[in-house]
Amino acid sequence: MISTATSIAQQKFNNCIMNASGVWCSDEKELTIIDNSAAGTFVTKSGTLQPREGNPSPRYFETSWGSINSMGLPNRGLDYYLDFVQKLQQQKRQKHYFISCTGFNVQEDLLLLKKITDADFKGIVELNLSCPNVPGKPQTGYDFATVDMILKNVFENYAGPLGVKLPPYFDIVHFNQMAQILNKYPLAYINCVNSIGNGLYIDDEKEQVVIKPKNGFGGIGGDYIKPTALANVHAFYQRLDPKIQIIGTGGIKNGQDVFEHILCGASMVQVGTALMKEGPDIFERLTQELKTIMQAKGYSKIADFKGKLKYLA
Ligand code: FUM
Repeated sequence: MISTATSIAQQKFNNCIMNASGVWCSDEKELTIIDNSAAGTFVTKSGTLQPREGNPSPRYFETSWGSINSMGLPNRGLDYYLDFVQKLQQQKRQKHYFISCTGFNVQEDLLLLKKITDADFKGIVELNLSCPNVPGKPQTGYDFATVDMILKNVFENYAGPLGVKLPPYFDIVHFNQMAQILNKYPLAYINCVNSIGNGLYIDDEKEQVVIKPKNGFGGIGGDYIKPTALANVHAFYQRLDPKIQIIGTGGIKNGQDVFEHILCGASMVQVGTALMKEGPDIFERLTQELKTIMQAKGYSKIADFKGKLKYLA
């Protein structure tokens, strides 16, 4: 019997594969479809204090190696997602969900978390510190002092299980510095990685960018980012207190990609670009492909290989 079950923050999930925030999670209709798919659970689009239209279209473009987007955090507002997830949790008491949220400063983060506390939400919060697409707003995850300050305030004010979505880091010194900050706090998990921010994809024939916001600059996802995602998962797996779990996101489009994220240390994985391209049936395929790999290798559960990446002698 091969199991792809996992747990995050002591909450159990029957499958370690789920959507990434931003994909198939903007409203009740999409979330219901993911809820009824083979995914272990869902995470909502990052909810802000007020609903947002986001950036002008076209704001998402698929390439043969992945995607570029500059959505600009379009969402229905945190209250919408909280109401929906609360309703769902009353029906399915055994199932746990993730709510993503993001403020534009620490005061907003705290207001969002107060709403979540007041709603008596029983699931897991993913605080997004890494959206690259709001014009004029830098990615919080690259400002180490601000991340430290936000986490200090968050954990002084919020008692439930909470993880953070991080941008990709590219330097060993930055892995060290960020891990030192993260290890100071009772984080349930970190999610590595958000898209690689501010890439540029060009239509050569038209000699033109492919998305409208920010003159074509946008977050890159898909095949392009898998090595960076794996490096971030593993770098933090090596450095973090084992109580802080890791969700791996980036470049997952087949069972082998899921396997590699887990081998690098992920306890759960999220699928973004490939879910956008293939739709929610992808969860069944990824799960079967992962199980086939596990069977061939003689593994019956993800703990058998999680974090067990080998190095050259
Ligand atoms: O533009 C967006 O809505 C993307 C958000 C994110 O990558 O966190």
